[in-house]
Amino acid sequence: MESQEFRTRAHEFVDWMADYLDRVSELPVKAQVEPGEILARLPSEPPRSAESFDQIFDDFESIIVPGMTHWQHPSFHAYFPANSSRPSVLAEMLTATLGAQCMSWETSPAATELEIRILDWLRQMIGLPPAFVGSIQDTASTATLCAMLVARERATGYAVNERGAAGVGSMTAYCSNAAHSSVEKDAKIVGVGQQNLRKIPVDSAGAMIPEVLDRTIAEDLESGHTPTCVVATVGTTGASGFDPLGPIAAITQRQGVWLHVDAAWAGSALLLPEYRALVDGVEHADSFVFNPHKWLFTNFDCSAFYVRDRDALLRTFEIHPEYLKTRQDSVATNYRDWGIQLGRRFRALKLWFVIRSYGVDGLRSKIRSHIEMAKSLATDLEAARDFEVLVPPTLSLFCFRFKPRAIDDESTLDELNETLLHRLNDGGKLYLTHTRVRGMFAIRFVVGQTETEAPHVKQAWQLIQEAARSLVTAEPR
Ligand SMILES: Cc1ncc(COP(=O)(O)O)c(C=O)c1O
Repeated sequence: MESQEFRTRAHEFVDWMADYLDRVSELPVKAQVEPGEILARLPSEPPRSAESFDQIFDDFESIIVPGMTHWQHPSFHAYFPANSSRPSVLAEMLTATLGAQCMSWETSPAATELEIRILDWLRQMIGLPPAFVGSIQDTASTATLCAMLVARERATGYAVNERGAAGVGSMTAYCSNAAHSSVEKDAKIVGVGQQNLRKIPVDSAGAMIPEVLDRTIAEDLESGHTPTCVVATVGTTGASGFDPLGPIAAITQRQGVWLHVDAAWAGSALLLPEYRALVDGVEHADSFVFNPHKWLFTNFDCSAFYVRDRDALLRTFEIHPEYLKTRQDSVATNYRDWGIQLGRRFRALKLWFVIRSYGVDGLRSKIRSHIEMAKSLATDLEAARDFEVLVPPTLSLFCFRFKPRAIDDESTLDELNETLLHRLNDGGKLYLTHTRVRGMFAIRFVVGQTETEAPHVKQAWQLIQEAARSLVTAEPR
């Protein structure tokens, strides 16, 4: 593609992008396609010769866009959000254009130094103490993996890195039984093993029970295991539980075990001083992750990972092949040594654009409004006699179910709510997902999309009531 055509196409694309963001609310939020449908429309072999750009773009519009679930739709209330914003999208365009690979200071000095600065801004914004130093990872799964690797190395005197796992005996790690599945995946990868990941029970609010953690670590020590890491969750995925960091940190400090805090979603709420009590004790954690790509208006992927012991992190990951050595290695930050991957994208740029475009106050007011919308909807649900709030919203997630007065049988209620969920999602006007709460099928409702406003949430409530009540006949209200 020549420069002139690039310019023309780029302008057309920007128009398309602006139109898309303006009209995304009119599209079905969840892709209305069956498995294999898109694949069948894609040629099974690559083109031998160049195709016209018009044809490629037509196919994007006719095949790809209808096959997308629209995460930026204001009625996306599923999972956790992966919200973005116009300043972030524009910054991603610049990142793609620069096409830089930011593995070391020398390969991208500005990217490295911007990342240092922005991660410190973020640290201040969420109230972490200055002892924490940060880097950007692709996802929370990777950040937690990094934390668990450093924890493993610290617990084994860096023996696994040196000699492999044979000879270090069996290692254990700990999380609550409501922790995200990424912790289990990471336990497999770091060599702890699924069976040695102790899943500590939670209390009725979904928070890890510290006394059981303490006892379990003590028993493991007694039986000759090597405890490596406790992963505490601030804002569990299923039902928004908050592990008590203070009591957990007291245990990890006493037992000499690494404490990693997974605040993938809820971390953004720490911008609001009124929610900082949710992480009382975080100053005693060893590492912390949260995802600006979830709830801080920054395009996926962008995960902020903090550690207190930078030396332990570097000692775990640093490696110095001749071809990577630069003259600045002794004085500059080389982020390639802060995690698993060598090559790194320039992700700090979009954060810089987002934080400066909104300002901290602007970000706070958006997050606060999401929480208020969730709380207000939960109040409406509570007031309706045929709905039940199963987990109230501490932040912007709550869980509920439809419970007509005439139905008591739990399995019938489960089936009814599952049918309700599918009916709502197939309608294309909103997207919700589910979990289990105390054994019950529960529908999750999360407010977190950048463009979500009160009328979207009101409309969602209307749709939920209509769909639910149409499932049962002659239900007294
Ligand atoms: C608490 C928690 N931790 C980790 C993750 C994984 O996030 P990522 O997709 O960034 O790996 C999620 C995803 O929703 C989550 O809710």
